Amino acid sequence: MPPLRVLVTSAEVAPFAKTGGLADVTAAIGRYLHKAGHEPRIVLPLYKRVRLSGLALEPVPGLQEIPMQIGGRRVVWSAWSAPLTKSAARAWFIRCPDFYEREGIYAADGDEHVRFAFLTRAALESCQHTGWAPDVVHAHDWHTALAPLYLRTIYAWDKLFAPTRTLLTLHNNAYQGNFPLAALADVDLANERHLLWQEDVQRGSFSFLKSGITYATALSTVSRTYAKEIQGDELGMGLQGLLKSRDDHLFGIVNGVDYDVWDPAIDARIPHRFTPQDLAGKARMKAALLKRMELPPTERAPVLGIVSRLTAQKGFDLLHESLTVFLRREDLRLVVQGSGEERYERYFEWLASTFPDKVAYRKAYDEDLAHWIEAGSDLFLMPSRFEPCGLNQMYSLKYGTPPIVRRTGGLADTVAHWNPRTGEGTGFVFDDFDAHALAGAIESALRAWRDPAQWRRLQQNAMAQDFSWERQILRYVELYRRLPAL
Ligand code: ADP
Ligand code: GLC
Repeated sequence: MPPLRVLVTSAEVAPFAKTGGLADVTAAIGRYLHKAGHEPRIVLPLYKRVRLSGLALEPVPGLQEIPMQIGGRRVVWSAWSAPLTKSAARAWFIRCPDFYEREGIYAADGDEHVRFAFLTRAALESCQHTGWAPDVVHAHDWHTALAPLYLRTIYAWDKLFAPTRTLLTLHNNAYQGNFPLAALADVDLANERHLLWQEDVQRGSFSFLKSGITYATALSTVSRTYAKEIQGDELGMGLQGLLKSRDDHLFGIVNGVDYDVWDPAIDARIPHRFTPQDLAGKARMKAALLKRMELPPTERAPVLGIVSRLTAQKGFDLLHESLTVFLRREDLRLVVQGSGEERYERYFEWLASTFPDKVAYRKAYDEDLAHWIEAGSDLFLMPSRFEPCGLNQMYSLKYGTPPIVRRTGGLADTVAHWNPRTGEGTGFVFDDFDAHALAGAIESALRAWRDPAQWRRLQQNAMAQDFSWERQILRYVELYRRLPAL
């Protein structure tokens, strides 16, 4: 079968621009598509922070100083490229200082809709300028979800896109890109109101994500359970009706793990490596982590790790009535890295000052420390309220750090509850979103921890799990190939 040309458009691609798992996934899709012999074109903005990072960028021939009219405004853009990590595939960065010379990846300047509509259009126009007809435009989350609608409207005249089908992957329905109707003109859709979700239009707004859900050839989410959950009232976040109407075009493909980056046997970011056969390096990593976090050493007490964006999604509201109680009572350590909503940052600061010998908190965003925490902790905590897929629990499994997770979304699909009688299971899973249920899971984890034979078996089970992208990318390729028939 001929290789596929896939245009991947995303606000985040690791390691260049990342706030969460979206970046890991788009980078992996690019890398593994290329490895499988396909032709991915990965397009993201040239954010100021990428430009200043010292990354060696090369100008893309034929894509320099290209003018574009967007929302009645004339801008000029160029494309620059750099290789993806450990790959011959290249990411293309759209340089347009008007939109991307800002401090962060996301901005609160009131033109977020234009910044990402522009990205989508520049990615599509890069195809036109280079005569490169994509088989698939693979959009991710709300930022690039206008691609299917743009292909039906602004670019409908261009035969280059005649074979092009679209896939929109929903990584997180909590972010929908909703804007007032007046902003339609800024993204050149003022004449297309009739194509939008009419209930929104009547309320005076429109949604990037809903337009993508409506017009993409197919939709995917990053786990099978989340694909079901978002069709219900509890996690539909207002999209359930629309998603239900597209049920036969909605697929769940669990994220993979990039084991070139996340494998304790070869991880370049940690000082002590280890394998399932020889866990001595893990014990050394635990000691090194505690030292780095300025906590007293211990072999006996388990270290719980957290690496996370601190948002309501991640379920940390449950900790106050569960984990705090354990911290008072038990010999435990807790190591947390994360930033986000102030109330959670304050909670972890309070925990660290209340239990200075047990809890350490870093507000930083530090890739190295993330690897250290995965490697040096004994348990990983992810009590999410909802979790489209989640990557950290899969990283934890590989690092012999059984995760404590809530049975939701991708957590339900990737972690099996430990059963001491049968010796099966890879972590600790609780059902209800309440502190009591989480406390029960922590209790089970501590019980297993106290029995070295059980613990060893659990760790071996966890480390034997395989969520490699080599396999998961084939699910995407199968879906891409089915698109023309959908
Ligand atoms: P989400 O995308 O919802 O944030 P995931 O579990 O899919 O959740 O992915 C989170 C990714 O972001 C992981 O690669 C994790 O290591 C990383 N991450 C999150 N917070 C931090 C942080 N403070 N420092 C370093 N890495 C982080
Ligand atoms: C989102 C989700 C997370 C998922 C990630 C990558 O940010 O919150 O669960 O793993 O996207 O798909």
